Order: sequence, then C-alpha cells, then structure tokens
Amino acid sequence: MSYLRMEDLDLAGKRVLIREDLNVPVHAGKVTSDARIRAALPTIALALEKGAAVMILSHLGRPVEGEYDPQYSLQPVADCMGEWLGQEVRLQKNWLGGVELRPGEVVLCENVRFNPGEGKNDETLARSMAALCDVFVMDAFGTAHRAQASTVGVTRFAPKACAGPLLSRELDALAKGLDRPVRPMLAIVGGSKVSTKLSVLNTLMDKVDELIVGGGIANTFIAAAGYGVGKSLYEPDLIHDAQLLIQKAHERGGSIPIPRDVVVARTFSNEAQAVVRNVDEVAGDEMILDIGPLTAMHYSKIIAGAGTIIWNGPVGVFEFHNFAAGTRAVAEAIDRSHAYSIAGGGDTLAAIDQFGVSDGIGYISTGGGAFLEFVEGKVLPAVAALEAAAR
Ligand code: 3PG
Ligand code: MG
Repeated sequence: MSYLRMEDLDLAGKRVLIREDLNVPVHAGKVTSDARIRAALPTIALALEKGAAVMILSHLGRPVEGEYDPQYSLQPVADCMGEWLGQEVRLQKNWLGGVELRPGEVVLCENVRFNPGEGKNDETLARSMAALCDVFVMDAFGTAHRAQASTVGVTRFAPKACAGPLLSRELDALAKGLDRPVRPMLAIVGGSKVSTKLSVLNTLMDKVDELIVGGGIANTFIAAAGYGVGKSLYEPDLIHDAQLLIQKAHERGGSIPIPRDVVVARTFSNEAQAVVRNVDEVAGDEMILDIGPLTAMHYSKIIAGAGTIIWNGPVGVFEFHNFAAGTRAVAEAIDRSHAYSIAGGGDTLAAIDQFGVSDGIGYISTGGGAFLEFVEGKVLPAVAALEAAAR
C-alpha cells in the first residue's frame, strides 16, 4: 500500500484536518467506553508536537442528515478528549464555513453526519471540508469502509492528503496477521444476524480452517442443523445459506461446530433465570442467550489448538451476568493461547475490557465493519482514495 504518512510531513504552522472515528458509546451525556478516543490521542498529540493547528472530524451514531440532534452531539467526546490531552478541545457547532484557530489549538467539529450529503459523498460538501485545511489526515480506520464525504471525497480535494499513524498501524498489523497466517486459522464471528455478515462468513470460510459462530448467527446455524431454537433471535430465511456454509466448511476439511449445550431464559433480561439445556431440548418459549459449559470447553480446546485467531463478536449476551460465561470462556482461552490473535468490533472490545484480557490479544483493532471488510480482503474505499491521492 502506498500513500503518504502523516509522520513524514512537515506540519509546522499548517491547518491540519484529521478524520478520526470517535463513534463511541455515550450514556446520559458521558462517554462510557473511551477506547477509540484513547486510540486517536497519539495522532493528535503528534500533530500538535509538529506545530499544527488541529481540526478533528468524526461522526457519532447515525443521525438523520441535515438535522441537528443533541443526542448525537460530540460534546461528551470533546470533554473526554480534553481531559486526556490536558488542554481545551473546543467543540464547534457550525464549521463548514471556516474554523478559527492557531497552531497548538484543537477544535472538534460537530458530528459530520449532521451535514446533508455526508453519506452520499457529496462533492460540494467534500470540497467545503477540504477548503478548511492545508493537510487532510485520514486516521479513522473504523470508518475506512465507508465512502463518504469526510472519509473519501475530502481526500480528493484537499491540498495534501495522508494517512494518520493509527490508520497505517492498523493496516500494517492486520496485514501481518493475514498475509501468511500460522495454521490452523480460526475465526470467531458473533453478532445478531447472519444476513449482515453472510458475505464475510462466506469469504472467511475460504481462508480459515475453523469457524465458530456466536449469538443470533449461531441460532440460525442451530436451526440449520435441525434443532428447535424456541423464541431465540434467528433468521429462518438464512437457514439454507447456513447449511451451504456448513457444507463448504466440510468440503475444505474444516468445520463450523454447532453448540452442544446452550443457556436459555424466558425473558431477555439481566434478572432472567438462566437454565442450561442440551441443544436438542430448547423449549418453544425459551431464548438461547449463551453457549453452555460443555460447548465453552469444546470451543476453548479449538482456540488452544489454533495458530491464528480472528475474533469479532461475542458468543452470548455477555452484558447480562447470567449469560456472560460463554464469552468469558472464549476471551480467556484467546488470552491463554499463543496464537497470533486479532480482535475488532465494538462489542468485542467491550468484552475484552470486561474480562480484562487485552494483554493476551495480539492486536486489538478499533474497527468493527472495517475490520471485517479488511479481513475479507476488500479494498477499503478511504485507503483507495489515499492511494489515488498519492499517485
Ligand atoms: C463503527 O462503529 O463501526 C464505525 O464507526 C462506523 O459506523 P457506521 O456503521 O455507522 O458507519
Ligand atoms: Mg494470547
């Protein structure tokens, strides 16, 4: 990959516009997990050290374009970032017309997705963003799979465009794990729906030796194996695709294991009574909310035998303590494993934090969807735009 890198540029006295992915969970006006903010800090600190005036762009959530909605304001992010940086991070509500700032100062521009045209990569919008700066720095790995005005369009029109250190570090680390992986290679993919991850599951099955599915995805595979799933979240329309994937795994000499036992409950809540059942004994009014202890042991063994592990998504509703044991077992097995492990995705990062296993993971990516698309071998549009700008 050849693109300019921020580390190599002279930024003294320059107006530098940095696109970060500061899409973090916010509750009651406070950031509840600041991992993505912390990951962006070295980039911002380096730009300041190089003498730049720093403007930051990010989205938060998926607001309706063209409407300001305080629920999606970046103010909590500005507050949190200011504390970490030890200097004021000023949130600017209207910034498209221009931002006044001096070298050494940091301004966070309000949610890019409030601007009409952001999602469709509108040219006029991208040009206005580009006009703000001397140098545009794309550093939002987590949003690099979106072809939007602030991730792709602006790169085309900025006087100079480069990759930030976080983005390039992510790309390098993931390439290292995927180029010549140590076998056997295992992917663990959780999440609610097969439909949103069907293409990634398909491509992954061409690359990996073993695939463990979790969450709602696993329920569809359990149904595909012929078992009842009661009231569980699953997708009847995708059963056939799940069967094809199981067949594909077998043809390649691998497998997609089906849980032997599961933890069920009658209601989706933290207080719900948890019952362990064999996979063929789930009642019509029950929901599968975690893997059972036998399955957790089985998966831990598969993990222990792997040479490379890709992890995206929990295997149960780990936010509820009664249904956290499966994801904890998976996290701890990856922690103990000597395999090169790479993990990504919001829920996965939250699970890694919750179970305190970050030291045992080879590389933790800030990306969710972007991480999976990279693993699939897709070209990330924002990276393609940087390469085009460098040519
Ligand atoms: C993410 O959280 O995965 C990224 O910030 C991208 O967000 P999006 O899926 O709303 O584009
Ligand atoms: Mg480990």
